Formats: sequence, C-alpha cells, structure tokens
Amino acid sequence: MLTFPDDFLWGAATAAYQIEGAWQADGKGESIWDRFSHTPGKTRNGDTGDVACDHYHRWPDDIRLMQTLGLNAYRFSIAWTRILPHGRGPVNQAGLDFYSRLVDGLLAAGIAPGVTLYHWDLPQALQDDGGWANRDTAAAFVEYADAVSRCLGDRVKLWITHNEPAVATWNGHLSGEHAPGIQDLAAAAAVSHHLLLSHGWAAPILRQNSPASEVGITLNINWFAAASRSAADLDAERREDGPWTRWFLDPLYGRGYPADIVADLNADGAFPHGVLSYVQPGDMATIAAPTDFLGVNYYYRTILRSRRMAEADNLPPTVVPGPRDLDHWTEMGWEIYPDGLFKTLARLAFDYQTPKLYITENGASYADGPGPDGRVHDSRRIIYLRQHLAAAWRAIQIGVPLAGYFTWSLLDNFEWAHGYAQRFGITWVNYETQERIIKQSGRWYGEAAVNGGFAPG
Ligand code: FCB
Repeated sequence: MLTFPDDFLWGAATAAYQIEGAWQADGKGESIWDRFSHTPGKTRNGDTGDVACDHYHRWPDDIRLMQTLGLNAYRFSIAWTRILPHGRGPVNQAGLDFYSRLVDGLLAAGIAPGVTLYHWDLPQALQDDGGWANRDTAAAFVEYADAVSRCLGDRVKLWITHNEPAVATWNGHLSGEHAPGIQDLAAAAAVSHHLLLSHGWAAPILRQNSPASEVGITLNINWFAAASRSAADLDAERREDGPWTRWFLDPLYGRGYPADIVADLNADGAFPHGVLSYVQPGDMATIAAPTDFLGVNYYYRTILRSRRMAEADNLPPTVVPGPRDLDHWTEMGWEIYPDGLFKTLARLAFDYQTPKLYITENGASYADGPGPDGRVHDSRRIIYLRQHLAAAWRAIQIGVPLAGYFTWSLLDNFEWAHGYAQRFGITWVNYETQERIIKQSGRWYGEAAVNGGFAPG
C-alpha cells in the first residue's frame, strides 16, 4: 500500500470556461474566450463553451458526484466576467452569489474549496484596452481579487492567483492558438510580466481578506529532456525549458528573469527598447514575495534535439521514444512519463526550495465512452493516474513537501482549441443530455482518496 499523509488533499480540478456554460446568464459579461470561440476557425469544429457541461445550473449534482467519489478538495476557477462584467467597476452581485452558493455546498459536503482567480478568461472589455500587455490590467486584477476574496475569504482554503501564466503568455500572445489569438513576441513578454506582477500585487490582499487560507500560483511544469548530452541538444532543451518554466519560476523565487532567455528573445531585435523595458522599480521584489505554496500542473515529457540536426535530416526537433501508441501517448499526443512528475517535484523542492507543493492538475485524455454494460472502462486512465500518484508518493518519501493532488478533470469538458474532442474527465459527460457517468478511473481514484492510498499496480 502506498500511503499518503493523513491531511493530504485528494481533489479534482476544473475551470470556469471549460464547464460552466451559461455564458450570458445573470449579468455575465463577455470574456476573451467567449469572443475567441465565437470567431470562426479558432476552435475545432467551431466548438464553444456557451453550454459546456452546464455546470452553472448543475453544480449541486456535480458536488454530489465528488461526494460519491469521496474527494476532500475541489479546485475550480471563477469567471471574472460574472463578478465584474466589464473587468472593472460595479460588482455583479448575482455572480458572487453563484460562487458563494457553490462554496457553501462544497463545505457542507466536506470538500475543501480551492479557487483559481484567473484561468484565462479575461473580460473582453479589458482586452479592448490592451489586455495583459497593458499594465493597467494588473491593477484591474487586484480589484477583482479583492472583490472575490472579500466575499469568499472566510471559506476558501486555497487561493491560486493564476493558472499557467506561460500558456496565457505564449499560446495566447505568440502562437495565437488560444484567446486572445495574438501573435506578437514583444506583447507576449509584457503579458508575462503583468501576469506575474498582478500575482504579486494580489497576494497580500488575498492574505488580508482570507487570513486562514493559503495563497499561491499554479505553473505548468512539464519535463524537458535533451536527446543526448551533445551541446546542441542540451541547448535545445534549454531553449524550451527556459521560456516555459524558468521564465516564470525564476522571478517568483527571487532569481529575476533568466538572462539567457532575455538574450534569446531579443535575438531578432523584436525589442528595440530592451526585453525588460516594461519592468518598473520594485516589480521584481513584488513578484518574488514569498507565497504559501506552488501549484504544479504536470502532464508529459518532451525530448528535444537540435533544430539544425533536425533540419539536416528533415525530422522534427522532438524525439519519440518507443512505440507511438495509446499505452505510451495520450490522445492529446502527450507522452506518458510518470518519472517526469517525480523529477519535477524534486526539482522544485530542492532547487527552488518551494515551501509547499500541490499538484493542481494531472490527468489524461482518452475518448472511452460507455460500453454495452453502461460503464466507462477507461483502463488506460487508471494506469496513468496510478503511475503518476505513485511518482508523487515517491517524491514525498524523499522529502518533497507535497500536500495534495488534483486530477484533471472532474468532468469531460471544453478543451480550449480542441473543443469537445479531448476527454480528460474521471466522469464521462454526454454533451447532448448532460448525463454524467463516473468512469472506472473515477471509481479507482475515489477509492484511493477514501483509503488515503492504494496498492501499487
Ligand atoms: C492545462 C489547462 C487545463 C486543461 C489541461 C488539459 O494546460 O490548465 O485547463 O486544459 O491543460
């Protein structure tokens, strides 16, 4: 039996835009994801989150689901546009009331609420004023964080300011595959800084409004490995880990922006005034102020080799180790590499001295639906969860201060640009009828939660 600490959080995670639907209900304003998904060609099939899992109306059922599973924690995000429909200004009480009822319902069910304030759905009104590239948006975020934590601060256990600022930065503003769909390196760099700055500004306000809670931020930290020890391959790894991981981790832990990546970003002269021209005195200290925990979203490994070599033999700069089948890769095309979770946790705990860690997301996309017996036999997801939880357990054994695990996701849901094609849930959702069926992986995970551990497979 791999036994976890008694007070370990066994949770599931979701995000507002991916599950709530009701995109115009009760005074909600338009977000950049509403705008983006309503723009032809931006998401697979033109899918939108207009209805999603209709969680906005079905949240009592969804709490019951978690209760049935035996989870003791739930991470969800708040839609900024339900609280402040235009980003700033008067608070929409109906929006606050929705989340207040949800939090009360969770507590009544014995489930600790963990709130993500920003899971990518910026009010469109703020985007119209420049979005995260504009420093004012960081100030608006603080007003929003204040309004939410004044209302929920007496009941929330965990506050996560931002979810995966790297994805909001690079996918939203460089590749453009996420909202707001911008492709501008200089804007992306400013966005990254304002996201981090808003975290630093909001943290003391959250502490003040919610003194019994813990405050942190969630980063996506996957495992990047060089294909060989050659200087060129090691450099390929550095170039990937740099912008995705160190660009965010280093400033949060007092090291400033990594100089090598500053140089890389300006290699083509995209920043005539210097890469860090948007950084003002005091910003770096604000960003580096200590928090209670770091949230980690971990999914996969990428093995990198030098671009020059890849071009020479006309193969991609990533290496595929072993067979490319569903036992080794999920349907997202992400390699399954549980050891990367162990290594990531160790890196954070020992290299960055993070005081406390939560795995705020980890999970797998497999399309399995109900079989003839009406059950969802998603055995590959069970293996994925078991292997990753075992890696988390091993990390605890070597002294990593890991305090909880939130699987992604409670429900199949709207997977951003992939629409409804990728199913990450431990609960299957019929998008026509909104019926939910707990998958076998959900049963397995719920048992582990109730027993505080599981037998190694
Ligand atoms: C993460 C996101 C989450 C979900 C998973 C699969 O990057 O935070 O919303 O889309 O990936």
